[in-house]
Amino acid sequence: MSTLTVRQYKHSDFSAVKKLFIEGCHEHASTTFYQALRLHQNWLLMILGFLLPLVTVGSILLAILDVVVVLVVLWLCGRKFFYGYATHALADDMKDIPKYYLQREGYNYWVVESDGEFVGMVAAIPSYLPGGEKNTELKRMFVDQSHRGKGIAKVLCRTVIEFARKKGCKAVILSTTTVQTSATNLYRSVGFRCTHTSYMTGFTQRLIRLQWIYFRYDVNNSK
Ligand SMILES: CC(C)(COP(=O)(O)OP(=O)(O)OC[C@H]1O[C@@H](n2cnc3c(N)ncnc32)[C@H](O)[C@@H]1OP(=O)(O)O)[C@@H](O)C(=O)NCCC(=O)NCCS
Repeated sequence: MSTLTVRQYKHSDFSAVKKLFIEGCHEHASTTFYQALRLHQNWLLMILGFLLPLVTVGSILLAILDVVVVLVVLWLCGRKFFYGYATHALADDMKDIPKYYLQREGYNYWVVESDGEFVGMVAAIPSYLPGGEKNTELKRMFVDQSHRGKGIAKVLCRTVIEFARKKGCKAVILSTTTVQTSATNLYRSVGFRCTHTSYMTGFTQRLIRLQWIYFRYDVNNSK
């Protein structure tokens, strides 16, 4: 039985944190592509792309090329979103983790070790609803692939919930995408409830119908 230790982030964690973050973001590109393949709108696009050159110029080569182009575009859409997300975060809050997360009230960044080895991380930032309700937002939840399915993310969720409770927050909130099914299952299993979903508005996100999903956990829950 391995020993899990959750502790605050320190400078020497950066390369491991960055690697896990990049890998964790990039792995969703392929899931997004497979989800896009299940959409009727994209099948219609491929069928039209196949039939049009066949009927108009009688070229099977052009017909196949059209389908390949649609497939490549769909692949690139998912890739663009998740690779772009990682690049943006690394230039933003993750550029200087101690400055962003460890020196400000209501912020924090934890890593989790299994027998002394870095295996996961999570972060918290303060968040206020329009009426002034004080919440904590859970961010940067990632567990190394070889250590998944052992309850590590649940421990990290509880760390953030406990932090929010100590800070006098009403709830822990977060957003993720509907393609991240392990994450959405995780949050539900811990007791978060989905408050709403919304389709992303960018052109490439619309092509693959990417959706944000928002969760909330009321910290007075006993689960
Ligand atoms: C989501 C993630 C953090 C889960 O980490 P984990 O340590 O494997 O999760 P746990 O072992 O604590 O599992 C907790 C619950 O999550 C759900 N879950 C975890 N992995 C799952 C999977 N592959 N498929 C379906 N549900 C899954 C289950 O409901 C599980 O509860 P159960 O074991 O009682 O059924 C991990 O898969 C990950 O890092 N994914 C990539 C990055 C990511 O999507 N992060 C979320 C950003 S919002």
